[in-house]
Amino acid sequence: MVILVTGGGGQLGQTLAHLSGNYPQFSFYFADSDKADITQKHRLATVFEQLKPDVVINAAAYTAVDKAESEPEKADLINHIGARNLAEVCAEFGSGLIHISTDFVFDGQKNSPYTEQDDPNPQSVYGKTKLGGERAVLSALPEAVVIRTSWVYSAFGHNFMKTMLRIAKDRDELSVVNDQTGTPTHAVDLAKALLVIAEAIGQDKKDYGGIYHFSNQGACSWYDFALRIFELQKISIKVNAIPTSEFPTPAKRPSYSVLDKGKVGSVFGVKPQQWETGLQQALAQLSAQ
Ligand SMILES: NC(=O)c1ccc[n+]([C@@H]2O[C@H](COP(=O)([O-])OP(=O)(O)OC[C@H]3O[C@@H](n4cnc5c(N)ncnc54)[C@H](OP(=O)(O)O)[C@@H]3O)[C@@H](O)[C@H]2O)c1
Repeated sequence: MVILVTGGGGQLGQTLAHLSGNYPQFSFYFADSDKADITQKHRLATVFEQLKPDVVINAAAYTAVDKAESEPEKADLINHIGARNLAEVCAEFGSGLIHISTDFVFDGQKNSPYTEQDDPNPQSVYGKTKLGGERAVLSALPEAVVIRTSWVYSAFGHNFMKTMLRIAKDRDELSVVNDQTGTPTHAVDLAKALLVIAEAIGQDKKDYGGIYHFSNQGACSWYDFALRIFELQKISIKVNAIPTSEFPTPAKRPSYSVLDKGKVGSVFGVKPQQWETGLQQALAQLSAQ
C-alpha cells in the first residue's frame, strides 16, 4: 500500500517519517510544500500520476494560529482551498484521504468532552479556515476521514513542550495560562492511530467517511502541562498560573476543548493512552536524540 504524506516536513510529518520503518507493509512518500504544494492543484495531480497513492495523509497546514489573524487569505488558501484541492485530486485518482483538523473549530463553551455531533463555532481565523477545510474535504470526497486533534507536541518540530524546555534554560520563573483546558497529544500516538486508520481505509472497501476525534486521554490546563514537563525533567523553575486575560494573544482560543474519543475507538479500535504517559515517552525520545 502506498501512503503519501503531504506536509511531510512538519511536526506530524516528521513523526510519521520516524515511525515509518516499523511499517514494512506500507511504501511511504513524504512530500513537503516544494514537492507537493497543496495550493497548486495541477502540480498535485502530477505527483499523484507518479506515485498513485492508495492513501494520502494530509499533515500540511497553515498552523501559525496568531499570525493567521493578520494573514487570513494565506491561512484560507492552505487550510481550506489546499485541503479541497487535495480531496478533489484524491477523488479523481481513487485515493483514500485522512485529513487532520483541530479542536480550535469549537468555541469552548462546553464543559464536557466535545463529540463529533457538537456544532463547531470557531473563534479564530485559524479555526475558521480549518473548519472550511473539513467541510470542503467531505464535500469533494465523502469517504475521506477527518481527524480532529488537539495540543500536539513531540520531539520534532516546534511545540509547547520544546518551548517550555527552551525557556527553562534561560529563566528561573515563567507564567502560564491556567484557564484553558484541553488534552495534550503526543504526535507519536496520533501518528500510530493514523496508520491504523490508513490500513483500514486502504484495505477494505467499507465507507469510513466522516469526522473523528483523536487526542490522548485526560485533561489539563497549559499550566498543568508545563508543571508536568518540568517535574518529569526534574527542572526547578517557578511557574505562575495566570488567566488568559493576563496573556493576551491575537487569536482567541477555546477555554475548553477536550475531545470525546468514543467514535474513533468503536470504528477503528484506536484506544489513546493517558496524556501523562505520552509526555513521558516524548521526553524520553527527546533525550535520546
Ligand atoms: N500542532 C498542534 O498543536 C495541532 C493541534 C491540532 C491540530 N493540528 C493539526 O495537525 C496537523 C499537523 O500539524 P503540525 O503540528 O505537524 O504542523 P506543522 O509542524 O506546522 O507542519 C505543517 C506543515 O505543512 C506544510 N505546508 C504549509 N503550507 C503548505 C502547502 N501549501 N503545501 C504543502 N505543505 C504545506 C509546512 O511546510 P513548509 O514549512 O514548507 O511551509 C509544514 O511542514 C495540521 O493539520 C494542524 O492543523 C495541530
